[in-house]
Amino acid sequence: MPTEVRIVEVGARDGLQNEKVEIGTADKIALIDRLSATGLRSIEATAFVSPKWVPQMADAAEVLAGITRRPGVAYPVLVPNLQGYERARAAGATEVAVFTAASEAFNLKNTNATVEQSLERFRPVLERAHEDGVRVRGYVSTVLGCPYQGVVALADVVRVSRTLHAMGCYEISLGDTIGVGTPAKARAMLAAVATEVPMPALAVHFHDTYGQALANVLACLEEGVAVVDAAVSGAGGCPYAKGASGNVASEDVVYMLHGLGIRTGIDLDALAATGRWLAALLGRETGSKAGKALAA
Ligand code: HMG
Ligand code: MG
Repeated sequence: MPTEVRIVEVGARDGLQNEKVEIGTADKIALIDRLSATGLRSIEATAFVSPKWVPQMADAAEVLAGITRRPGVAYPVLVPNLQGYERARAAGATEVAVFTAASEAFNLKNTNATVEQSLERFRPVLERAHEDGVRVRGYVSTVLGCPYQGVVALADVVRVSRTLHAMGCYEISLGDTIGVGTPAKARAMLAAVATEVPMPALAVHFHDTYGQALANVLACLEEGVAVVDAAVSGAGGCPYAKGASGNVASEDVVYMLHGLGIRTGIDLDALAATGRWLAALLGRETGSKAGKALAA
């Protein structure tokens, strides 16, 4: 197991992109600023995707312009194509993330492109980012199952991950988009990808549809992964993935990591308070068990 783990906090992006409650730009900025004060080092801020496809992210430029950036904290943003990259750069982004999938059926629904077409879209993005000195993260979705095609071949997960890494993505985040994975499968998937992409360049991204996310994180830690995506209060879900639910809650991951003696640099009480603040904003209880327990 690693001695230190970096959490990539995706609550402001994955957490809010499918939210029915309307969240104002000022609240999104307040969320990110609160998260910045918890010791997190990677906070995904927003997505420069089509506002017609995801209206929740239409204020991406305003959000990025409004946050107070802490030294030492990265604020990556999602970009689906060169147009998104240009919007992101104009708004001051210094790190971006491209996203595709291991499943053709899902990728078509999510980005109106085949996996190959999406990789072609990323080539100019990676070229420009390289020139601009912008780091690029790569997401591979549906690594443990697809809502439209069902089973996803491990070979496809490995191939798409390897391609993104070879194109210049510094880190590949393996997404169980609809949270269908179980620990042994998650671990085997990670091990298979790690034969082609070095483990330090891999991250895991679990949604908690079947209550397996934290167990999957543990299995992957045992396999050696040291980067974990999570969303404060367990918010999240992809609007183009049928049946998608929230991400693993950051507070629960941090509680587990600290219990295992693994360093995160994160102030758990501050993170849990932020999760409860966000849940109140969304008009519900926090989806984090640790967040609830710490309030008692
Ligand atoms: P398209 O309709 O095929 O795009 O959408 P197009 O290139 O044909 O352009 C059509 C219109 O969209 C044009 O405008 C473009 O200017 C505009 P019009 O001429 O009609 O007025 N457009 C844009 N506007 C703003 N920003 C842009 C942009 N690009 C085109 N970047 C597209 C293709 C990829 C744009 C669309 O499908 C899209 O935005 N999809 C994003 C869906 C999304 O955000 N999903 C959630 C994130 S992924 C996720 O959650 C999974 C993850 O968490 C990991 C996991 O859990 O597995 C990462
Ligand atoms: Mg996700």
